[in-house]
Amino acid sequence: MPKRIFYVSVMAAHTTDLDIRAIVSASTIWNRRQDITGLLLATRTHFAQVLEGRAEAIAAVMERIRSDDRHRSIEILVDVDAAKRQFGRWAMAYLRRDDCSQALEQMHMARDPAQAQAFMSLLEALSIDLASEP
Ligand SMILES: Cc1cc2nc3c(=O)[nH]c(=O)nc-3n(C[C@H](O)[C@H](O)[C@H](O)COP(=O)(O)O)c2cc1C
Repeated sequence: MPKRIFYVSVMAAHTTDLDIRAIVSASTIWNRRQDITGLLLATRTHFAQVLEGRAEAIAAVMERIRSDDRHRSIEILVDVDAAKRQFGRWAMAYLRRDDCSQALEQMHMARDPAQAQAFMSLLEALSIDLASEP
C-alpha cells in the first residue's frame, strides 16, 4: 500500500534561497526515479513537505532528508496509507509562502494530525495553479 507522509521542520539559519533551489532540483531527480511525488513548502523559517510513494521508497528518502543539515527538528505529523495520490503531478512541487510561517510554527509545536491533514488539503488546493511538470 502506498504511503503519504507530511512533516514540518525548522530551516537552518544558514539555508539560502540557492540551497532551496538545489534541494528542489536534487529532489525532483531522485523522487522521479523512485516514483515519489509530493510538494515542498518553504517559508522564511520552516519547511513543510508531503511525500507519497511506496513505503520502502519513503523510508529511503526520509533517510536522505533527515541527514540534510539545512533543516532540523523534523516532526512527522501525518503518516498514512494512501491508495490515491494527492500530489501525483509532481516529483516535487515547490511553493514559497512566507505568509505560512506562523501556521507552520504553530503546527510544529501542536503536533495535531487533524490540523496537519487540513493543512495538506489547503496545499492541494494551492497547488492547483502550479504548472504540471513535463
Ligand atoms: C527540506 C528538505 C527537503 C528535501 N526533500 C528531498 C526529497 O524530496 N527527495 C530527495 O531525494 N532529497 C530531499 N532532500 C535531501 C537533499 O536534497 C539531498 O540530500 C541533497 O540534495 C544531497 O543529495 P546528495 O547527497 O545525493 O548530493 C531534502 C532536504 C531538505 C532539507
